[in-house]
Amino acid sequence: MLIDGHGRSVNYLRVSVTERCNFRCRYCMPDKPFSWAPRENLLSFEELFLFIKASIDEGINKIRITGGEPLLRTDLDGFIKMISDYKSDIDLALTTNGYLLPQTAQKLKDAGLKRLNISLDSLKPEVAQQIAQKDVLKDVLKGIEKALEVGLKVKINMVPLKGINDNEIVDILDFCKERNIEVRFIEYMENALAADDLKGLLGKEILEKVKEKYTISKIGREGESPSFSYLTDDGYKFGLIDPHKHDFCEDCNRIRLTAEGNLIPCLYFDEAMSIKDAVQSGDVPKAVEILKTVLKDKPKENRWNDEDSETSSRAFYETGG
Ligand code: 5AD
Ligand code: SF4
Repeated sequence: MLIDGHGRSVNYLRVSVTERCNFRCRYCMPDKPFSWAPRENLLSFEELFLFIKASIDEGINKIRITGGEPLLRTDLDGFIKMISDYKSDIDLALTTNGYLLPQTAQKLKDAGLKRLNISLDSLKPEVAQQIAQKDVLKDVLKGIEKALEVGLKVKINMVPLKGINDNEIVDILDFCKERNIEVRFIEYMENALAADDLKGLLGKEILEKVKEKYTISKIGREGESPSFSYLTDDGYKFGLIDPHKHDFCEDCNRIRLTAEGNLIPCLYFDEAMSIKDAVQSGDVPKAVEILKTVLKDKPKENRWNDEDSETSSRAFYETGG
């Protein structure tokens, strides 16, 4: 079992396979174009898998593949199969913007993927376009239906933004309720690469919007997930992730690996250590040693709610949120 410097056990690894994305969501990417890290800087799937195998042997039993947009990386289904063949009972999930799911959902399911989180910030084409800076809604909706059709378990992520999509909170909840899938509302996390003019809704403001239609009761957290579950009066369960109250940090169970091989102990902070040289030279024990060092120094909590803290400069497209 992996234990961090604050005594928390860590069993959840999030692996970003690319920082590239076919969207430019305003809460994640800068407005101005920038150049991506060159592809040759990425770890190959074989190199990532060397580290993943070792992490599983150390006690990781939950893996989420993220990006950027992970479906942009070719042969992703082959990578998923490598992990699933190594340990078939691993909780193996993927976070995606959904755009490429119509073509890929079946292959992902066949490779052993179990669960998907798909971003859906609006049901209005022009608002979806305003957020993603591309006309995406039709394909995303098709992607959601395809994922459900092939039997993947789906959750929806929505980031409510003031004056942009905050009047659609109930609509998105109803959309998910009709399909029997869970929605999770995520507080916008300020970061230096997002558009300056964005303002997110706090958890309690999000709940107020839901209460315009439903009476709700709090269920609480399931496991170590940062999401708090709520129940509507007609029995639909939804989630809220509110990092501005950092009360889920105390049993944070996760660590993140970027596509370039940096191990990141907390989404808020810039700190990272690279396992790239270790895995590229086949020195797996060294990579495990680096993992343990990063865990030892994992911060106690994020700083999204600290008045005197600077905006996080961590790029979300590197870590997949
Ligand atoms: N704040 C909150 N959530 C974010 N995500 C990305 N950037 C941010 C941010 N600044 C989340 C979105 C998206 C997932 C990939 O990451 O929910 O669905
Ligand atoms: Fe791409 Fe996801 Fe960032 Fe949107 S939030 S730009 S889909 S990586």
